[in-house]
Amino acid sequence: MKITFTINNEERSLEVSSHQRLLDIIRKDLGLTAAKEGCGKGECGACTVLFNGEPVASCLVLAPQADGAEILTVEGLLSREGELHPLQQAFLDAGAVQCGFCIPGSIMTGYRLLQDNPEPEREEVCQALAGNICRCTGYQKIVDAIQLAARRMQAGGDSS
Ligand code: FES
Ligand code: FES
Repeated sequence: MKITFTINNEERSLEVSSHQRLLDIIRKDLGLTAAKEGCGKGECGACTVLFNGEPVASCLVLAPQADGAEILTVEGLLSREGELHPLQQAFLDAGAVQCGFCIPGSIMTGYRLLQDNPEPEREEVCQALAGNICRCTGYQKIVDAIQLAARRMQAGGDSS
């Protein structure tokens, strides 16, 4: 079947089969390889993208379900000029980018959290990240990064 959806603010149409997953089309058909496959069964969060504004495990979403959807991946956080989003920059500055495998998912979860809660407490960040597993247990720096981004975005009046 043919599906049409918006990804990172760009409308795309693709021929997909019923067994394909959203993660497959994002990575293989569209070449957006930030979202990773970890567990493949909704447990690790490495494949997290925003789907109609909410974080989802893209390994659990079937491609046909994406028809008409709005999808945002970590690639879509870059500005038009290719500058990093403040949250991406904060991950670098806080030393939170340890493996690169879980990080795109953690960034998408953090991005969604900051939309609702621009100044989250540490505990609230930890709760939001409950579905994003960091195998090297580097959570401290990931939480630091999200709080650093929150402070910077508040100071700069950036609510994007
Ligand atoms: S690969 Fe999707 S949740 Fe682990
Ligand atoms: S930073 Fe990715 S598994 Fe720890």
